[in-house]
Amino acid sequence: MRRLVVIAATALGLVAVLSQGPVSANGRPPAVQDQSLKALAARHNLAIGTAISNDALAEPQYKAIATREFNSVTHENAMKWESLEPTRGTYNWGPADALMDFAKKNNQKVRGHVLVWHNQLPAWLTEGVANGTISKTELRDLLKKHITTVVKRYKGKIWQWDVVNEAASDPWDTPSEIHLKGFWAQNLGPTYIADAFRWARAADPHALLFYNDYNMEAFGDRGPSDKVWFIYNLIKNLRAQGVPIDGFGSQGHLGTQYGNFDTFQVKEVLDAFSDLGMVSALTEVDVRSQMTAGVQAGDSNEINPRLQASASNFSVLMQACLLNRNCLSYTVWGFTDKHSWVPTWFTNPPEGLATLYDENYQPKRAYNSIKADLVFAGPPHVQPRPRR
Ligand code: XIL
Repeated sequence: MRRLVVIAATALGLVAVLSQGPVSANGRPPAVQDQSLKALAARHNLAIGTAISNDALAEPQYKAIATREFNSVTHENAMKWESLEPTRGTYNWGPADALMDFAKKNNQKVRGHVLVWHNQLPAWLTEGVANGTISKTELRDLLKKHITTVVKRYKGKIWQWDVVNEAASDPWDTPSEIHLKGFWAQNLGPTYIADAFRWARAADPHALLFYNDYNMEAFGDRGPSDKVWFIYNLIKNLRAQGVPIDGFGSQGHLGTQYGNFDTFQVKEVLDAFSDLGMVSALTEVDVRSQMTAGVQAGDSNEINPRLQASASNFSVLMQACLLNRNCLSYTVWGFTDKHSWVPTWFTNPPEGLATLYDENYQPKRAYNSIKADLVFAGPPHVQPRPRR
């Protein structure tokens, strides 16, 4: 009996050590500074992911960090409709498949991005609708065909799908009351959302199906211009009608000029979706700053506070995710300032410094902040999430 107990205790000890991640030559887990984000996140059953640019993957340093630090990847552009079907009827699977192979080789999960979005659509589609050669009925059929084709091709290989992306307007749009915006709502009306989720479910019953959007960090006044409240009610109603929406994706594109968020604000939103029976994820985290003249000139008095604020916001999102047991993954939208969409996208005024590593692949404060969160969070306050 005593021997059994000893064996059991030894086995438990081993499990405990194994679940801490890799073990070094002396049998102990490596020191914190030698552990990767993915090893540390594994303790929480949290996936830590990054968007991957196919071009950048050709760089050895980029590839090494993508492999070492992350256990989930997302195609930054390669799975968007314009990339997959640039010419009507001819799918170009090469770049998307290449990242699937990379993920498989490195034992990484894949967040599929994206099935229905108003941006980065092929010109033949948008022009066809504009000039009337593609009717509304045909458009709906084309969407169904696209979703079915893509989801079936990767059936069983995609963990989470971003089925519908950025469907809601912003309070600065006209009218300021939040409404469904963009190409799909304009051409198909609001029913395209339920349709898209049902078609995706039929094509792969096991993938987790997400609604994904930005500016989802905190509830506002729960009035007509509160985007989070709008999305919350939209999803609540659709789920009540049996529409298969499993997950809520909060993109997490933040900017230091807009003020910091608080962990409990973000947690409140994640909890609200959990209470609907859903999982959640932070899907595109980056925290950019304005590249003032001082920042560009290398003035540390201007740079350091911004790096600090960026790190704080990365951390707030991480802590909120850790505090909610249904938050399954935390994905950054690129991990190095060398390959970030921010400087090309936000040019007036110029913005940058948005990611975990600088342009020379040196980890920044943001990297150390989320690493510290992963190291020092644990029971009783933070419990590992159940495997899903
Ligand atoms: C961005 C990519 O990072 C850029 O390379 C591309 O030029 C434009 O799209 N929300 C999303 C992502 O859901 O798909 C966007 O990605 C960033 C905002």
